[in-house]
Amino acid sequence: MTEPTPQKRERWQTRTGFILAAAGSAVGLGNIWRFPYLAGENGGGAFLILYLLITFTIGISVLFAELVIGKVGDRNPIGAFRALGGGPWTIAAYFGACAAFLVLSFYSVVGGWTLAYIGKALTGTLGGANAETARRTFGSFVADPLQPVLFHGLFMVLVVAIVGRGVQRGIESAGRKLMPALFLLLLVLVLRAVTLPGALDGIAFYLMPDFSKVTGLTVIAALSQAFFSLSVGLGAMITYGSYLHERSWNLPHETLWVTAIDSGVAITAGLLIFSAVFAFGHDPASGPGLSFVTLPTIFEEMPGGAFFAVAFFVLLAVAALTSAVSLLEVPVAYFVDERGYDRRRTASLLGVAIFIVGIPSSLSQGVWADLTVFGLGAMELADFLTVKLAMPLGSFLLCLFAGWIAEPKLAAALLSEEGKLGAVFGIWKFVCRFVAPLAIVWILVAGLLD
Ligand code: TRP
Repeated sequence: MTEPTPQKRERWQTRTGFILAAAGSAVGLGNIWRFPYLAGENGGGAFLILYLLITFTIGISVLFAELVIGKVGDRNPIGAFRALGGGPWTIAAYFGACAAFLVLSFYSVVGGWTLAYIGKALTGTLGGANAETARRTFGSFVADPLQPVLFHGLFMVLVVAIVGRGVQRGIESAGRKLMPALFLLLLVLVLRAVTLPGALDGIAFYLMPDFSKVTGLTVIAALSQAFFSLSVGLGAMITYGSYLHERSWNLPHETLWVTAIDSGVAITAGLLIFSAVFAFGHDPASGPGLSFVTLPTIFEEMPGGAFFAVAFFVLLAVAALTSAVSLLEVPVAYFVDERGYDRRRTASLLGVAIFIVGIPSSLSQGVWADLTVFGLGAMELADFLTVKLAMPLGSFLLCLFAGWIAEPKLAAALLSEEGKLGAVFGIWKFVCRFVAPLAIVWILVAGLLD
């Protein structure tokens, strides 16, 4: 392959714009849909403590590693790995980009569900009369061979439209408009939920740790949730870091901001959902259906529920959209940087490909439910390969690469421009070299033996 022609790369316009875009990537279905039901199934507060512990030690270090590699490498993940001493390590970056593609294929299916549910909330057809009707409404919607596929397509159209407009006019501008809206919606919803009579029991369940529920599998669940939620392990944050100006901002500071916003939203979403679930006497451990089945019945019973239902599904859709954008940006940045392709066309073509690859995931909820590999349906299989395997593995390799291989270049670039970084950099290096890789291996092995 010939040396890519160096072209002027786009940059984030402002520091806030960058933080909101990165937080937009981090805050997604993982925070609002996945985190609460995982906590509900895994001992409430015990899971929360584990998750926070992992997030603020390993997670934040991996996030910092990604942002720094992107900033110093000044390229998409593949180019950045190559520029920082790549060799065989670059293969990990290729895998990451493929995994981002695969994650988006089923993430977008669920994103489509959120769009459809905005429509249902607006027309009062959530089926929330009772648990049975809500379950049937959701079950027959996702099992339909056509509707969810169309909404998956619509969701991808929105993602492509944002990514196609570029870093500043597309991704940053979407983050600056959508993230404040998201915070506001979340605030309105959580205030409503915690003031419901009986909400206190939910909060007690949520915050009271039940360590008897903690097993090796719980720890793995917390670890993969931490990575998924921070958007690390696949190169998305490398890509976002690469759009930072050379004139550096205070990167540890921004890493902390993004991490705090991400776990703050997850904690708040849990508060919202458990308050509502207990106020109306539902089962907190009802799994993935918590958002789409349990909540609609609650909205039905709640005064002003129709309004809160729309607000909730808009919240979910916005969160999903800004995250999906960062997933598409990984392969797009590769083709734009390394191959000199046109951004808009690349985004469109990849969008179509991702749409097609996602169709089996959608159909696996209905007509193709019996089509399984190792007992997993298409969506479960894609989720297993990416979230449970590729992301921890990607983070493992990334830590080793950042801590051992790229470290001299990263140190030279960072320490020259950020004198104060000394101590933080030392701690980070230690975590990247030893703590994080060992913890990831230990957690994976212990979990598999469990
Ligand atoms: N963090 C997002 C969420 O919580 C998902 C996500 C977006 C992601 N971009 C990513 C996960 C990149 C891994 C890698 O829903």
